[in-house]
Amino acid sequence: MAAPRLALLALLAATACAVSPVDDLLWWQTSVIYQIYPRSFKDSDGDGVGDIKGITSKLWYVKNLGVGAIWLSPIYKSPMVDMGYDISDFYDIDPLFGTMDDFKELLEEAHNMDLKVVMDFVVSYTSDQVPWFNKSVHREDGFDDWYVWARGERNESAEHGYNYPSNWLSAFNGPGWEWNDVRQEFYFHSFTKEQPDLNYRSQGVIDEMDRVLKFWFDLGVDGFRVDAVPQMAEDACFRNEEPAGNDLPPYDYEYLTHKYTQHQPETYATIKHWRELTDQYDNPPRVLMLETYGPIDEVVDYYGTTEHPGGHFPFNFYFITELKNTSSAQDLDRIVHKWMDNIKAIDWPNWVLGNHDQRRVATRFGPQLADAMNMLSLLLPGTAITFMGEELAMEDHLGITWEETQDPWAINAGPDEYMVYSRDPERTPFQWDNTVSAGFSTNPKTWLPVNPNYEWLNAENQLHLRITHVLVYQNLVRLRQLDAFRRGSLTTAVVGDVFAFSRVYGDEAYVVAINLGGTKETVDLSALSPLPNLVVSVSSINSFAQYATFPADAVVLQPYGALALRSYDTTS
Ligand SMILES: *[C@@H]1O[C@H](CO)[C@@H](O)[C@H](O)[C@H]1NC(C)=O
Ligand SMILES: *[C@@H]1O[C@H](CO)[C@@H](O)[C@H](O)[C@H]1NC(C)=O
Ligand SMILES: *[C@@H]1O[C@H](CO)[C@@H](O)[C@H](O)[C@H]1NC(C)=O
Repeated sequence: MAAPRLALLALLAATACAVSPVDDLLWWQTSVIYQIYPRSFKDSDGDGVGDIKGITSKLWYVKNLGVGAIWLSPIYKSPMVDMGYDISDFYDIDPLFGTMDDFKELLEEAHNMDLKVVMDFVVSYTSDQVPWFNKSVHREDGFDDWYVWARGERNESAEHGYNYPSNWLSAFNGPGWEWNDVRQEFYFHSFTKEQPDLNYRSQGVIDEMDRVLKFWFDLGVDGFRVDAVPQMAEDACFRNEEPAGNDLPPYDYEYLTHKYTQHQPETYATIKHWRELTDQYDNPPRVLMLETYGPIDEVVDYYGTTEHPGGHFPFNFYFITELKNTSSAQDLDRIVHKWMDNIKAIDWPNWVLGNHDQRRVATRFGPQLADAMNMLSLLLPGTAITFMGEELAMEDHLGITWEETQDPWAINAGPDEYMVYSRDPERTPFQWDNTVSAGFSTNPKTWLPVNPNYEWLNAENQLHLRITHVLVYQNLVRLRQLDAFRRGSLTTAVVGDVFAFSRVYGDEAYVVAINLGGTKETVDLSALSPLPNLVVSVSSINSFAQYATFPADAVVLQPYGALALRSYDTTS
């Protein structure tokens, strides 16, 4: 972080972006969406793995946070090669998580509590155990083209008598092609070889996935988070990818560019088609949110056009991929504008800080910035998505051993390198209290070990102490219900190590300030505040500033402190 700076009363270079006025906001625009990783939320039957009944039993906690929707990572029937992202029956629940009746009960209970339920829609590939794959292997009528089948040139010295059709890699590293002896062809897999990619040039596939969507919508599911969208389709001519020009090993996915295996025209077309289908369900309206890592131009294209809308929003992952522990306030400002300045006026913004694939916020930025990061995602314009546990500033469990490792990406990497790729550290059980297995399970042995810091870092502790991350989180969720945050304009500014922004709607005006530096700062935020004074509405726990008031030109921020302040006039 930049050098310490004191008494900054310099003029702010404020840059504004208009946020479109929206009359009737829909639930997915006003709600915080809370991601639950079902394996690790709550185990109801003592087998050491989280389940649906466990989730239902903890809905009170979710509701108490103030969030409006839960998004469940996959609970469909699966051989669990990739933790349930390898689906073998798109119309059923895996027994590990419970039954269809358990799911219906969860849906009903959630709806009774006015919580929406969003499911994962895994579209890019299936498990190799789904009956469709076997039918395609055997070229059964109507299934022949459901997967991406091909052979390279004839080559007597190649293992299977043919070269790979292309140099494409799996996102889990190594060749993306796997030989099938029955069909005498390779199939492409973006992820593990047990996850063959579906072919979105097949009408059969499109029709089937439509049926899947309708099945769950008809059951009352409120929306979908569409998984691995960029990887849905590949180049029809199997053109080779160019090397990215880095010094990664050639088997590493990022060694190659992905011009021919990501963001293909068929992908955008299919998303628009699903949007049309989704819009047929309007009571209540449903949501399609898209998992879309990529360059900004490709990502914002997933919003589609006014005439042909795409997803309701592609996830904004730039707080994950671009914001670093070492980022300056200027960098943060650039990242916020990267999204806001590249979307159209009708596009609805969103902010994602973490998920089951990424190091936790407190691990990436340090626990001292955990409140600041929640303040960013919850108070910037648009939908906020929270990964379970971020409200507690849960930390990654970096002590997971090779023997305990579950993530196939880490297993692929072997015992020396597994931690470089492992996503297990952020997937450990939720820390409810300081009893056995952190109150997650009655079983002392859980599918991934519990982070040993559960003894003091747990929900029960934080809900009962006075100054804790979860209380800050709840206060922020409450604050964002105001029109200033739902509909207000956004203006940002940088003063030294401080990133600040205002949200203004009519007479309602707020200023949010975040100190990314390790030194106390006094900053002039008067350019952001319509009125001469600021009073603290929500303070990060390291600021100890609840209800403090400041002249707008001299706001005091503690090291790594973050404040949400209301603009007011002492004389009025
Ligand atoms: C796979 O398909 C073949 C031919 O269509 C069929 O004979 C076989 O029973 C199927 N195997 C499974 C496991 O469904
Ligand atoms: C044929 O396969 C072998 C073994 O994989 C490989 O080394 C060689 O380069 C291939 N030849 C051609 C012409 O692609
Ligand atoms: C960077 O992150 C680490 C944790 O990974 C944290 O301990 C450290 O304080 C952070 N540094 C800064 C300057 O925030």
